Amino acid sequence: MKYSLPLLFLLLTTSIFSQSITTIPIETRDFALVLQTDQAERLGTVYFGKKLSNAGEYAGIFLQERHVDGNAGIYHSAYTPSGSWNLMEPALSITHADGHVSTELKYVSHRSEKLGEGIALTTVLLRDPVYATEVTLFYKTYARENTFEQWTTIKNGEKQAVTLEKYASANLFFTANDYWLRHYHGVWAHEMKPETTRLPFGIHTLDSKLGARANLFQPPTFILSFDEAASENSGKVLLANLGWSGNFKIDFEKDSYNGLRVIAGINPAASAYQLDAGKEFKTPSLIYTYSENGIGEASRNMHRWARNHRLMDGNGSRMTLLNNWEATYFDFDENKIVGLFAGAKKLGVDMFLLDDGWFANKYPRNGDAAGLGDWQENRKKLPSGIGYLVREATKAGIKFGIWVEPEMVNPKSELYEQHLDWVIREPQRPEHYFRNQLVLDLSNPEVQDHVFGVLDNIFTKNPEVAYVKWDCNAVIYNAFSPYLERKKLPQTQLYVDYVKGLYSVLDRLRAKYPKVPMMLCSGGGGRVDYEALRYFTEFWLSDDTDPLERVFIQWEYSYFYPMIASCNHITDWSKVGIKYRTDVAMMGKMGYDIVVDHLTPDELAFSQQAVKNYNSISDVVWHGDCYRLSDPWERPYASVLLVDAKKERAVSFNYVITNRFEFSYSTAPIKLEGLDPAKKYRVREINTYPGAPSTIDEKAEYSGQFLMNVGINPDMSLKRMSVILEINEVK
Ligand code: GLA
Repeated sequence: MKYSLPLLFLLLTTSIFSQSITTIPIETRDFALVLQTDQAERLGTVYFGKKLSNAGEYAGIFLQERHVDGNAGIYHSAYTPSGSWNLMEPALSITHADGHVSTELKYVSHRSEKLGEGIALTTVLLRDPVYATEVTLFYKTYARENTFEQWTTIKNGEKQAVTLEKYASANLFFTANDYWLRHYHGVWAHEMKPETTRLPFGIHTLDSKLGARANLFQPPTFILSFDEAASENSGKVLLANLGWSGNFKIDFEKDSYNGLRVIAGINPAASAYQLDAGKEFKTPSLIYTYSENGIGEASRNMHRWARNHRLMDGNGSRMTLLNNWEATYFDFDENKIVGLFAGAKKLGVDMFLLDDGWFANKYPRNGDAAGLGDWQENRKKLPSGIGYLVREATKAGIKFGIWVEPEMVNPKSELYEQHLDWVIREPQRPEHYFRNQLVLDLSNPEVQDHVFGVLDNIFTKNPEVAYVKWDCNAVIYNAFSPYLERKKLPQTQLYVDYVKGLYSVLDRLRAKYPKVPMMLCSGGGGRVDYEALRYFTEFWLSDDTDPLERVFIQWEYSYFYPMIASCNHITDWSKVGIKYRTDVAMMGKMGYDIVVDHLTPDELAFSQQAVKNYNSISDVVWHGDCYRLSDPWERPYASVLLVDAKKERAVSFNYVITNRFEFSYSTAPIKLEGLDPAKKYRVREINTYPGAPSTIDEKAEYSGQFLMNVGINPDMSLKRMSVILEINEVK
């Protein structure tokens, strides 16, 4: 009898697979990632998609594959080793103690355990049959949020140190007809610029090598859609974030069978890591969520996951604030600052945030070229110290917060003079600065103590300090660590040990100060990811506070991070009226960065009412589900809706983003989403400007069905450039 080649392959594999294959389904509420061993005990990914109701059927998935060449079986490896049989882009590359560079991984065992309601952990142990290398793959699933968190540990069982050349967090594998990737790039004040790319054959890479504030070049976030470019409400989509606040690399490798391998982790560039005998290396996590109903649902999964499981105090509340950065820059003294407290009180915000410029004496911090590192109050500007400011703020009925940038140093500082060996710099080369500063060597435990001490001193002396803005304004040039040299450790560990050092400081800080809210800032949006957000309650998206630009920046960040984490300030950066600026800032965590006394009476009255309005809708904005209704990249206006869990309240933010008369009118209604079709609602406009009453009929009642199928017109135009609508159930 003659068999065709594919059938022959199928028959062969069927008989072999019936011997001893292990199938490991890893499931969320609706989806499954399935791993399976082959006849040689190598582990592959055989499925990613809708969960099957009969889990027994997972075992047969791979039998449906009919590849006809010897390479086919290597593409779907669950964690690709390097230098042996698999010649694809590796997840793991090791130089063993004997100098050999070949690694193989075979399945040993696996187990699954329940960690909590809806949370499970599957671990899979792999071992090299020749070298004493053990790799454990961790898959943590959050069933309700359809979210996976994946990381890996690599253990060196050899008698001497090995070198990890590449050590990815995850090595995913997908099959589809086509792949579309939404990814981001940026520079200062132009963060989160999106691009959607149809993935070509070969490797497409996202990466950053900036060291600290790595996101300035590219953030470790992406949206991958399968078969066709997903839209808000349709398409198969994976939305992901690598939880690592340093150099990263994410490769998308499309193979000849249209399979896609995603290999994500710490960037191996100049980062070979020495792993001593008996030691284990834990990679950061790749967090991903999947939906077959478009980007909107995937994004809501991610928001829920973040609020419930990751973002610090994700289900809590946040403070509104007045910041003095754009109001004063470095030019202030204690009288001026205390004078601003009255403005904060007048506005009705919860807190005053003192920004950069309050410290250093020998080289006073009167500009960004001096003083960074010397964290003593500047005696000229603040003769009575921070304590006095805290007391005055309390008297004024507001809380007090403070800016720090503890990882950095100006060469013009006492810290630099006294601790040159704490500074990352190449002693043989001229120093190269980013914003006149250098980065401290956080691989050094003494430097970690220093950074911890900056915050600890502030809190010890002033326990009432209620908030911290933690900044990070420079990249790492001339990467050389005096500490690693002293310890005879490879310099290539610096980029990794820097981030580990940072997390270790943040761990200590959170152990001692578990509650104090902290903003993650990085000279604009240079650093945000889901590992850093374990420690921070919120983050600064960009120094660009022009509200028109912000509509786009906030829109893009909103795919990945919930509104409660997104710090938006009203500033004088643009000449656009205060209403538009305020309406944009309200779509997140609102703050002010203005001189309140410069407001006209109308502007002040509007702002006072806006703070009250914000307080009344903040619960929905912070904890509600987010629906993006009108995309400003495609239409002349943006519309975003937040809906509370009970579908009783919703808030819609609408912004015209053109000055062209012709396009500024919202001629058609905007369809809402996420409401209860059977409920009745009233729609009310809030944040109207004095003298410009609402044109929305507050008395009309609409069914949820009407609002979701017909929609409501916010009546936007050049005269009504921004409109906030509150949608309340009629009870
Ligand atoms: C960075 C921040 C700003 C401000 C300045 C202070 O640029 O992003 O908000 O704090 O530093 O120097």
